[in-house]
Amino acid sequence: MGDNSPMIVEHNVSLAPHNSFGIVAKARELLRVRSEDDVRALLADRERAGQPVFVLGGGSNIVITGDVRPLVLKVEIPGIRVVDDGPRATIVEAGAGENWHRLVAWTLEHDLPGLENMALIPGTVGASPVQNVGAYGVELQDRFESLDAIDLRTGRVFTLDAGQCGFGYRDSVFKHPPPEGADDGELVRGMGLAGRALILRVRFRLPKPWKPVLDYADLQRKVAETGIARPTARQVFDWVVAIRSAKLPDPKVIGNAGSFFKNPTVTPEQCSDIIAREPNIVHYPMPDGSVKLAAGWLIDACGWKGKSVGNAGVYERQALVLVNRGGATGGEVVTLARAIQTSVYERFGIRLEPEPVVV
Ligand code: EPU
Repeated sequence: MGDNSPMIVEHNVSLAPHNSFGIVAKARELLRVRSEDDVRALLADRERAGQPVFVLGGGSNIVITGDVRPLVLKVEIPGIRVVDDGPRATIVEAGAGENWHRLVAWTLEHDLPGLENMALIPGTVGASPVQNVGAYGVELQDRFESLDAIDLRTGRVFTLDAGQCGFGYRDSVFKHPPPEGADDGELVRGMGLAGRALILRVRFRLPKPWKPVLDYADLQRKVAETGIARPTARQVFDWVVAIRSAKLPDPKVIGNAGSFFKNPTVTPEQCSDIIAREPNIVHYPMPDGSVKLAAGWLIDACGWKGKSVGNAGVYERQALVLVNRGGATGGEVVTLARAIQTSVYERFGIRLEPEPVVV
């Protein structure tokens, strides 16, 4: 196992091109993972086996606050293919290192619609289940079939279905650390896997017949504007690309990690209490009876849009997005995020929870 896969560890590698915030930092040691054999070669390496590692995908959901000391595993597993084409769905498998948007484009080029509402989400295929990415009415869990991951302690490859991934709003088992002393047998039961497993491949279920998902207000607006009530998947893809490009900064131009905070959920009682004070608050009733509030609105209402702390700022067109105005440090981003959390808490009594992982 891994005999013909020599392990090449790179030293003092700049992480600036590998994090969408564009924060300048280095990895002391970095190993490119192109297949499970690279992970097995690492486990067979007497010097490094058992040392802490940091798994890096597209770097679009992290804030780096200094040089990264654990060995960075840069996931570069390639490949996209159809693995099953049945009457009710097509199953597409993609390597964890594939760019997410490239996968979405590939499926449309091959007449396999279903992922179009999630066009242009930054990051990689392997990172997509970690926080159950979603946009414009479709979440990853709605199109998820299964994934293969490798246990970073034993090198054993295992498969998880949706239930075992424990998907929630921007959440999964991959965001939670395993309980102390958890043994190998417990891994597949869907407990915390952060730092314990590396996602190798993800399979997507694209249902047949295809139906557009147009419930989201921004898409309804496109239907009204264009008069196209029955768009093609390509049309929905183009709309989503246009909506996102108008609201969200392109990380290649302005460093950012998408939404910086999750939209908070409150009880109906808390919500009516807030509405009494803030009649304009943007809120959405959820199927379980709770109410989701638009974090972007809360931050905007506190006057943060366009403000900065050092070189970290709040994006002018969408207050939920923090940006690197040029040369920002991770510390500045974290300081700005804390200041926003404090003012939202003081005014609304709501604690905002960050989406990205602080490294
Ligand atoms: N709003 C403001 N001011 C702002 C920003 C937003 O008043 O500065 C209001 C908007 O007018 C709107 C509401 O807040 O009424 C919600 O805004 P929007 O429709 O832009 O969506 P969002 O809740 O800010 C979420 C996701 C995005 C996803 C979009 C579309 C989260 C944390 N964010 O944003 O996901 O693209 O919906 O589905 O759930 C991401 O996670 O990185 C991300 C971009």
